[in-house]
Amino acid sequence: MGEHGPSADGLEGVVAADTELSLVDGAAGELVIRGWPVGALAASGRFEDALALLWEGRRATDDDVARLGAARAAGWPRVERAVGAHADPTVALRAAAAAVDGPEQDDGLGLVALVGLTTAAWARWRSGQPLVAPDPALDHAQDLVRMIRGAADPARGRALGRYLCTVCDHGMNASTFAARVVASTGSDTASAVVAGIGALKGPLHGGAPGPVLDMLDAIGAPERASGWIAAELAAGRRIMGMGHRVYRVRDPRVAVLEAAIAELTASASGDPATAGRLALARAVEAEAEAALARRKPDRPLKANVEFATAVLLDAIGIPREAFTATFAVGRVAGWIAHVAEQRAVGRLIRPASRYVGPRQG
Ligand code: COA
Repeated sequence: MGEHGPSADGLEGVVAADTELSLVDGAAGELVIRGWPVGALAASGRFEDALALLWEGRRATDDDVARLGAARAAGWPRVERAVGAHADPTVALRAAAAAVDGPEQDDGLGLVALVGLTTAAWARWRSGQPLVAPDPALDHAQDLVRMIRGAADPARGRALGRYLCTVCDHGMNASTFAARVVASTGSDTASAVVAGIGALKGPLHGGAPGPVLDMLDAIGAPERASGWIAAELAAGRRIMGMGHRVYRVRDPRVAVLEAAIAELTASASGDPATAGRLALARAVEAEAEAALARRKPDRPLKANVEFATAVLLDAIGIPREAFTATFAVGRVAGWIAHVAEQRAVGRLIRPASRYVGPRQG
């Protein structure tokens, strides 16, 4: 049998920690962030509200906006020097966090600034335009949009703020678990963030929204969705943006992001193409859901957050290669909150394994 009893593949259903940070109700399709329904938190459109809520259990003040602005200004010279070193922005993020040294290893706000700055600078560099330095007077999301697009855009900044709040935390997801394992060893916050980025990078976790946009482009029109999906499934491939370990109903974050898309589309920054893409995404979702229900009648496979993420981040003007990095810009708030919570627990995370190998002699 080995060290301990039977193994749980993928640790499905295993409770790894008590947390006050977020509740994911997979049957009801509900996400609560430290007492707030995710839609209510996201409605603020200001990432600092998610940060203050997760880290200190309160709404943000102007001082919080100023402190994160100052952290961006302080972190910029290092980010500016490093930009262009990596063709993949999640590798750039991993490298940036890995290089953090000395007392800065436990500077949570500095790490939040670093992840945001690296993502924005990478996106700007990718577009071939001169880099834009941060403006500490703006809130995080507004400033990152300004750094990416070269000019402030309040509607897009608010849309990004809503996205970052929506994805700031999500129970014991793989990257949060990875960060907590690192924190449980007594290691530093930067190392936990590096672990989080490494886990988020994979296509089964944070790597899906870029491929979702590729899929929407490949399908092109709603009437082509059914044939395209059937061919993918016949080839043994998964439909990106569908399915979830916990949700058995539609991911509640999809509706929150759809509201952000609608608000952006109706604003002065709105692009009519976005409404068309949202309609296509909904048609593809409906086809995928029906095809997966036929294929897996016992396992409800519904849309996850990545469907709406792809449409929203594209409308904000973020290149699809940087979608996963943008996910990290929001989720780093949750990782660092979990690091603090794990430190308070103060016990090493060290599960058991079951030995199924040979014995000699
Ligand atoms: N397309 C096709 N089939 C899917 C599927 C998808 N998107 N998601 C799950 N399935 C199938 C699996 O192939 C598996 O079938 P099998 O038992 O015949 O092997 C079955 O449904 C159960 O899936 P499982 O891998 O046990 O689910 P999980 O809880 O381990 O995985 C995800 C959850 C999210 C990793 C999975 O649904 C997936 O790969 N989705 C696509 C990637 C994605 O959108 N990721 C972003 C998550 S927010």
